[in-house]
Amino acid sequence: MRWLCIALVALIVALFSFAAEPAEPVKQPIAFSHQHHVGTLKLECKTCHVNPSPGEMMTFPAEAKCMACHKTIKTDSPEIQRLAKFVEEKKRVPWVRVYQVPSFVFWSHKSHLDAGASCAECHGEVGTMPQIVKAKGTTMGDCMSCHSKYKAPNDCSFCHEKVN
Ligand code: HEC
Ligand code: HEC
Ligand code: HEC
Ligand code: HEC
Ligand code: HEC
Repeated sequence: MRWLCIALVALIVALFSFAAEPAEPVKQPIAFSHQHHVGTLKLECKTCHVNPSPGEMMTFPAEAKCMACHKTIKTDSPEIQRLAKFVEEKKRVPWVRVYQVPSFVFWSHKSHLDAGASCAECHGEVGTMPQIVKAKGTTMGDCMSCHSKYKAPNDCSFCHEKVN
């Protein structure tokens, strides 16, 4: 029975390891560049991505944060005018998600940051990216191999609801 379980886990991990998506940038509603804001302007992640309690999400920045600069910077740019229009209409910018795990998987940013993982380990060097690309995988195999590396648990129930 034991060898069967081990073989099954190995098979599942192998299957999921092949499900990697291509690293093509998605089209965002506004052409925001991390290369510019992080690489050149040296803004910190937490200026824009806070980690509100309970810590699951890093969240997208409040538009008011962008406007603190863009009320005066580059107001002649069509991209900035689009941004200003969202703000004027009191709408959130509908950013397209790049990283996402299904709802049946437990996930928390806070636990990983508390454990010492860096943004770059899971998202690459965003300061070099004019457009965010999915630099690292989020398949089950990707999660499990890092858990092995950090000696973190890999029981099914660590990431999934117990089935019975
Ligand atoms: C000036 C604000 C700003 C700063 C500073 C910033 N970001 Fe972002 N970030 C954004 C915006 C806006 C988006 C949504 C648009 C996009 O994907 O480019 C985003 C998207 C992302 C995404 C994609 C999320 C997803 O799944 O859709 C990641 C990952 C990310 N940022 C990581 C970082 C990291 C790591 C840092 C620091 C090294 C950082 N960001 C600094 C504004 C910022
Ligand atoms: C600390 C100030 C600051 C903040 C905060 C900031 N930006 Fe910028 N942003 C700049 C500067 C400076 C430039 C470069 C202007 C230039 O090219 O002359 C720029 C350039 C841009 C451009 C390119 C405009 C173009 O057409 O060339 C876009 C789009 C943009 N920012 C969007 C955003 C968004 C969206 C946010 C909020 C998530 C944001 N910015 C937050 C300072 C800021
Ligand atoms: C252990 C891996 C890991 C680390 C470390 C990590 N992230 Fe993430 N990040 C993810 C995963 C997985 C998702 C998708 C989560 C989901 O579907 O809710 C994500 C999603 C995001 C998003 C999309 C919006 C959201 O709230 O989920 C942003 C923005 C983001 N990360 C920024 C960051 C920043 C900034 C850091 C460092 C402070 C960081 N991440 C550290 C794996 C990681
Ligand atoms: C950078 C390596 C790394 C990656 C990538 C990673 N993890 Fe983790 N994960 C850890 C570490 C380290 C811990 C802390 C283990 C502990 O507390 O014993 C952890 C803890 C967790 C926890 C426990 C959270 C809590 O609040 O108790 C869950 C759930 C989890 N990870 C799910 C995932 C999922 C799902 C993915 C893939 C999308 C993933 N992890 C990717 C290293 C990683
Ligand atoms: C470290 C976290 C982690 C652990 C441990 C884990 N999984 Fe997963 N699992 C995931 C993630 C993340 C996905 C979603 C992968 C994706 O989006 O491609 C997933 C997806 C699945 C799916 C696919 C469901 C579907 O409908 O697509 C099954 C089945 C599954 N896991 C079973 C298991 C079993 C059985 C175990 C124990 C051997 C296990 N998982 C352990 C993170 C984990």
